[in-house]
Amino acid sequence: MFITLEGGEGVGKTTQQPLLAEQLRQEGYACLCTREPGGTALGKTLRDLLLHGDPFTPLAELLLYAADRAEHVSKVIGPALAAGQVVVCDRFTDSTLAYQGYGRGIDLDLIRQLNRWVTGGLQPDLTLWLDLPPEVGLGRARSRSSGVVELAVQSTNEQEDLEFHRRVYCGFETLAAAEPQRIVRVSAQGSPAEVAARIWLVVKPRLAHRNTIANVD
Ligand code: TMP
Repeated sequence: MFITLEGGEGVGKTTQQPLLAEQLRQEGYACLCTREPGGTALGKTLRDLLLHGDPFTPLAELLLYAADRAEHVSKVIGPALAAGQVVVCDRFTDSTLAYQGYGRGIDLDLIRQLNRWVTGGLQPDLTLWLDLPPEVGLGRARSRSSGVVELAVQSTNEQEDLEFHRRVYCGFETLAAAEPQRIVRVSAQGSPAEVAARIWLVVKPRLAHRNTIANVD
């Protein structure tokens, strides 16, 4: 099973990923945690360039995320799924649609085509959209990094940043509305334990359902 965690800045994906993995392991599932960008050796270099280098043009940025994903799917995610592991990935194709598409304004169909190409058509079985208003998430992200948010798309202007992140938020909202079976909204308000409990309420029945199907097959 392939699970992705998505959402804007400061929604708590990085805290929730190990909590979900722990729950999965307790239920007896072998589980791999990974992330984009940065799930491979090439990805780590790309992450550093994307998040700490000079800003790239939107198209160059899109292609770097795509390169990260191509390497990641073929070297890490694909083999882990083939070995029967549950893969929990912090960001995947929906981030590209939300950030580069809705946020930056790159054509959504072009991004979808690129996503299909670099993933070989692999799609998450379940995507958890951690939903937090962008104002709150950005505040959280800034306070944990002494004012500097590790964003790929950051301007020197806080208002512009906020507008960008509002577009990203609307992007996730639109994507979730279009694919309600796959993308499930989970409120990211509250303590990490409260959010983890909400996530588990979504994941657990999906695992049971898949096991039932596997047994029938
Ligand atoms: P993270 O720190 O939450 O992992 O995210 C790193 C940054 O990368 C975050 O600002 C979102 C951005 N990003 C994109 O813009 N497009 C993408 O396709 C991915 C995977 C991440």
